[in-house]
Amino acid sequence: LLCFLVLMMNSGELRVCSLDQKFSRDDFPSDFVFGSGTSAYQVEGAAFEDGKKPSIWDNFSHSGNWQGDNGDIACDGYHKYKEDVQLMMDTGLEAYRFSISWSRLIPNGRGLVNPKGLQYYNNVIDELIGHGIQPHVTLSHFDLPQVLEDEYEGWLSRKAVRDFTAYANVCFREFGDRVFHWTTFNEANMVAMAGYDMGMMPPGRCSISLFGSNCDKGNSSYEPYTVAHNMLLAHASAARLYKKKYKAAQQGSIGINVFSYWFVPYSNSVADVIATQRANEFYVGWIVNPLVFGDYPGIVKKNAGTRIPAFTNAESKYLKGSIDFLGVNHYATTYIKDRSSSLDTDNRDIMADMAIEMAYGRSPYKGLQELLEYLKHVYKDTSIYIHENGKATPSTGSLNDTSRVELMQGFIGSMLDALRNGANVKGYFSWSFLDVFEIMIGSKFGLYYVDFDDKDRRRYPKLSAYWYSSFLNGRNKNK
Ligand code: NOJ
Repeated sequence: LLCFLVLMMNSGELRVCSLDQKFSRDDFPSDFVFGSGTSAYQVEGAAFEDGKKPSIWDNFSHSGNWQGDNGDIACDGYHKYKEDVQLMMDTGLEAYRFSISWSRLIPNGRGLVNPKGLQYYNNVIDELIGHGIQPHVTLSHFDLPQVLEDEYEGWLSRKAVRDFTAYANVCFREFGDRVFHWTTFNEANMVAMAGYDMGMMPPGRCSISLFGSNCDKGNSSYEPYTVAHNMLLAHASAARLYKKKYKAAQQGSIGINVFSYWFVPYSNSVADVIATQRANEFYVGWIVNPLVFGDYPGIVKKNAGTRIPAFTNAESKYLKGSIDFLGVNHYATTYIKDRSSSLDTDNRDIMADMAIEMAYGRSPYKGLQELLEYLKHVYKDTSIYIHENGKATPSTGSLNDTSRVELMQGFIGSMLDALRNGANVKGYFSWSFLDVFEIMIGSKFGLYYVDFDDKDRRRYPKLSAYWYSSFLNGRNKNK
């Protein structure tokens, strides 16, 4: 079927046919889930409709940070969710990962629930379930309500812990009878680094970082640490609430998500090998160690010094064991070189605290297997979901996205190797289902092309959608 599709799509292009795919859906356990994902701001649009108020992402995009583009309409997913669920059916998705917009559900950040917001998410969830697709829901995908940023500087304040927990409570209460997979934060480490050190993501704070010249607010020597600390406490607070009040009746699970490269030493030198370990402790351990072991990794505490807050004993206890699963967004393997000289700089930011330098260039697929086996080893068999994995292609690119098909085949095969070696991986979500409003300007990741020049935002399947569908439906046929 796939060969035929390729032929149809690109007169005579047979590359995909010759790919050596040595696995099928049946090689994975039957309770393993395959899905795809989006996030609220990137897909919904209707940014100021039906009572929704701005999030920090609305404000950041309206400040010109995406070359004049913004997510006001995005894919118009708010109005087209039924059509989208139908596309998911066509593709054979078993699960859909999406996020709830806090400022659509609770426009003032706390207090009254917006009935239209509630209705919308109930509709989406019911539509998915009605079609046999599992909803995997993220509570916060970069889009804190702007009102909380204005009131107390958002994640820089501990007050956000209380408001996030109250928001999570509404979600568990209203949707938890049908949603069994909750993720508190998407890429908690990237929120802290890209939002408070590099100024690349909302709220766009930085001061002494690489991108410092574009940035005139913040103090990146300590803000990323404060923000991550408050998000960890918010995660633990929401997880505790879920476990105490809802889990017994609803039988769901709750986790967090991190952005995670696989790191390999640039050379065999001891310095590069140690720097690679340091890279893992900063990127992943900074967020995950407190949730599994109750505290930050030693090297993170050492290099950040007094700029990283300490957990009290009581906090440590309640952080420890507060994830049922870890969500991982993995796109690439990267080389690590030692950069210990950065530790000599006064007033260091988090990148300098890491004392590493990254260099790209290694074939990526095997890295996912190594990452999964590393996570199993370090985090005592914690369940893992690959929450994002995908390929950036130019937004002008063609529907014949053979490079995306190759990448998905490569990574899924690598994940299967890890699974066979005992890694506790439970699911795989490609990023993204549709071509969404992207952080990486000029790139799209979708299985479906969305025509952003068309007011109806029509969707068109790419070759990757056909390939994924043949991979997943193959399983259905055998059932
Ligand atoms: C990670 C983020 O979670 C997602 O929002 C973004 O679109 C992709 N990476 C690609 O840049």
